[in-house]
This record gives sequence, structure tokens and C-alpha cells, in this order.
Amino acid sequence: MRQTVLYIEDNFDNMVLVRRAIEAIGYGWLGAANGLEGLRIAHELKPDLILLDINLPDVDGYEIARRLRKSEEPHLRRVPILAITANVLRGDAQKALQAGCDAYLSKPLNIHELWARIGELLARDRWGGKLQNPAAVDGGDDGYSYLAGLQCSRCGDAYSPDEVQTYCARCNAPLVAAYSLNELQHKLDRDTISRRRGSMWRWHELLPVRSPRHVVSLGEGDTPTLPLARLGSALGFDRLYLKDESLSPTGSFKARGLSAAVSKAKELGVHKAIIPTAGNAGGALAAYASRAGMQACIFMPQDTPAANLIESRITGAQVVLVEGLISDAAKQAGEKSRSETGWFDFSTFKEPYRLEGKKVMGYEIAEAFDWQLPDVILYPTGGGTGLVGIWKAIEELAALDWLETSARPRMIAVQAAGCAPVVQAVENGEPFCEFWEGAKTEASGLRVPKSFADRLILDTIAQSGGTAVAVSDEAIFQAQNRLAKEEGVFAAPEGAATLAGLLELQKRSLVQKDERILLLNTGSGLKYIETIRDALA
Ligand SMILES: Cc1ncc(COP(=O)(O)O)c(C=O)c1O
Ligand SMILES: [Zn+2]
Repeated sequence: MRQTVLYIEDNFDNMVLVRRAIEAIGYGWLGAANGLEGLRIAHELKPDLILLDINLPDVDGYEIARRLRKSEEPHLRRVPILAITANVLRGDAQKALQAGCDAYLSKPLNIHELWARIGELLARDRWGGKLQNPAAVDGGDDGYSYLAGLQCSRCGDAYSPDEVQTYCARCNAPLVAAYSLNELQHKLDRDTISRRRGSMWRWHELLPVRSPRHVVSLGEGDTPTLPLARLGSALGFDRLYLKDESLSPTGSFKARGLSAAVSKAKELGVHKAIIPTAGNAGGALAAYASRAGMQACIFMPQDTPAANLIESRITGAQVVLVEGLISDAAKQAGEKSRSETGWFDFSTFKEPYRLEGKKVMGYEIAEAFDWQLPDVILYPTGGGTGLVGIWKAIEELAALDWLETSARPRMIAVQAAGCAPVVQAVENGEPFCEFWEGAKTEASGLRVPKSFADRLILDTIAQSGGTAVAVSDEAIFQAQNRLAKEEGVFAAPEGAATLAGLLELQKRSLVQKDERILLLNTGSGLKYIETIRDALA
């Protein structure tokens, strides 16, 4: 069927010019000379694409885009909108995107650019986003996500996922997302997801974003699971593996969490992002905020690795260097988000959706091991989103009946000896962590004196029959060297800590030779150049 383009424009000359251009490439044509007429025609004739002049005499283009995006009619919530903005006012373009337009062109119009943009938007609509955004896959709004609600992880109170949420103020505890898994089980099977290509967003039914239009992706996810045959045999393990997150956008697994959280925030209308960070989360937020057209402000300790500072600043984020630790950065970020309007705080577990992005590692692990989970997973634990997320994913897969056996991995939290609140709580049998005074380690992501989700971390370890181990910085750097020299993996110190943690488990006979053991390398060593010793000696 011939596709139709609606052009809402009050300038007669532009209208004639664009009409000719549209008809020349074989599309059907509809015109409206003002905003109200445009809205009426859009409702009645459901065009495949809308070209929208922003400066209109009655209702302006932003308002039209907002009304279309809020319409009862699913077609109008999704129809591609190309904003036509005045060339001098750069702010118009950002405002148009925030109002729900998909792209913009500035006047005076260049016909070749116009054709290119129209072709791209129509193809994107037909294929569900492949052209512009590798993440957005098949389907429209209906059935894209099976998100059912948010629940407090302590008291179980329900919160609406269609409003901006933080954490349960009554219990000071994280909110977690729940999905209609029963319904999904009848509509989708695991092989359908395995056949999809793209990014972690191929699991979109199990992610919180309701429309592919809001997905902000840099191609995160689908990192390799590598067998470590040489290192395994040297250490006396038959089946040792490493999932290598160093290939992620921004060089760490933080990309997953921030892709999910920024996408959901964008869907809910957030324009200003704030985050306290040990380093990598700040770099990831900066990148995704920039891609989403959001402003970003990042609070990081002043001794954070230089790569994190540079990657944040180059995106245009405002970076505030804080004297002290991530806990001090969190205080300052919290103050700014409370005292200045519009800033949304993306702190670990203080918003519900970073966890959802991180959990996809759990789905990918199950898939890579043919739906029979490994026996042991070692995870470098700071704030705990990775550890808790993988466990959440396993529970969801079990509820969907997608796992081959009921066996579960033992989840091992690995921490640095200079900051090991989880290890201390496990050893003392406490249900929560004490604040770790004087935290010190070069594995900056592990320098978290107390996680906001300490109870969830400790529950996960207990439910899985796992434990927590602390390793010295010396052991971490030795492990980093071994991974590089024997397997060619240049791991972040946090990732290398999992190998040091495995040696610790071996010493205590807490792991068997023939077990399937998975190490998580959460980031790239390239982001920590200044901490690497001996390599140049
Ligand atoms: C490379 C790396 N690994 C691990 C962690 C700890 O992650 P989580 O907060 O999920 O425990 C961080 C956090 O900054 C990190 O940057
Ligand atoms: Zn609660």
C-alpha cells in the first residue's frame, strides 16, 4: 500500500515545495495549514509519517507532538514525526525531540536531506527501529514490555511504573520491577529471543520500557562467554569461563543498567540526570544521557580513574569532583536533586531500572550455558546491582519455565579487602551491612562502604547457598596479570578480583575441580591505565 505523509505547515511556499518533493518519490500526500487541522487529519486519516512545522499560528508544533504522543490512538502514539524547525533557534530541535518528535530538519529545507530523513523514518517504523536504533525491535507499544508494576523489596507496597519513582520512602528500600510472566509464557518462547539479534533489548518483553521509541541504546549486551581453558587447566579447573563485559559501550557493564534507566526516564519525561559514581556508572550515564538529549551532572570522588572523568566531560556532562568516597558523592547528588527542580537521581537502587538492565547478564548466561546454569558465579560486588540482577533474572527464567533444570548457581560476592562490608556481614551472619570506615582499594568500583541494597545482596547470597570473599589489591593485580598473560583478557581490577576470589575459594575447598565456574569481568583494564603496575617495567 502507498504510504502517506501529512505536512502541517502554515507557509504556502514551503508547502508547495515539499509537496512536490514528496510526490516525486511516490508517497501519498496530505496537507494541513494549521495545528488544529493537522490534528484532525492525523486522527481521521492516520498518515504513515508527519512532517511538523514547529512555528504554527494556533497550536504550536511542540503541543501537537505532545498531544499525538498522549493520544488514545496507538497509531498516533507511534507514528514517526519529523519536526521542521527554524534554522537559527537550535533550542527548538531539542524541545521538539523532548515533545516526542523522532528527528528534526532545519529551514531552509534541503530536499535531499528531506528525502533521506523520510526514507529512514518510514523504514524505521516498518522494521521497528533497526535503522536509527539497533535496540528497538519488532512490535509497537502493545506487547513490547510486560512490565506489570513496581514493588517495595521490603514491605511489598505497590508503586506505579508509569510515573517517575525512586525508592520506598516508608522502608528506605529499593523498588523492584515485576512482569506479567504468566501471560508472557503463553506468548513467547526462549528460542524466539535467541533468534533475535541486536543488543540486550532483544529481551524487551522483560524490560521496563513500554515503547521502542524510547529505547536509548549504544548496542550494549550480548557480550561473549569465553572458556578459559589454559588458565583453568593451570589452576586445576576443568570448566572455567569468563563473561567479558569489557566489550560493552563505555567499557563496562554499567552501560546495561544506564541504558535501561535512561530509556525509562526518557519515557517518563525526565530531562536532567544526576548520578553519584565510583567512576564507570558516571561515564555510562554521561553517554546515554547525551544520546537521549538529556542534561547530565555527575558527582565522582576526586581520585576516580582519569578515563571516567574524561569520558564524562567529553559528552558535555557537568562533573563535580568530590573529596571523599562515593558515599560523599551520593550525599551531594541527593542534595542537588532535592534542592533544584527537575534533576532525577540515578543512584544505584535509588531508582528501580538500572537493576533491570543489569539482570540481562543473567538471561545471557542462561542462554550461553544452554539453559543449564553454571554451578558457581563469582561477581565483583560494590553496590550489588549485578549480583542481585543476575539472581532476579534466574528467578524470572524459572517462573517462565525456560530453564532445563532446577539447579541454581552459588552466587559469590567478591570484594576488596580494603572495603568488604558484605564479607563482614556474611561472616557475622548479619542481615545488613555496617558502613565500612576508611574504604581503600584501587578497584574503584568496589570502593562502596555500604550499599543501599545491602539486604538484597545478603538475601541473594543466602538463597543461592553462596558466600562472600575478600581479596587484597596485591592479589587483584596478580590476577589481572594472569588473565592478560594466559588468556589475553585485559580485565578491569574489579573483574580480575573474581579470579583472585576463585583462588580464595579453592584454598578453602569451597569449589570443586569439575564444577562449571563463571567469572564476571565487569569492565576493561584500559580504563585504569594509571593503576597498572609492572607492565612497563
Ligand atoms: C568495573 C566495575 N565492576 C564492578 C562494580 C560494582 O558493581 P555493582 O554496583 O553492580 O556491585 C563497578 C561499580 O562501579 C565497576 O565499575
Ligand atoms: Zn516499603
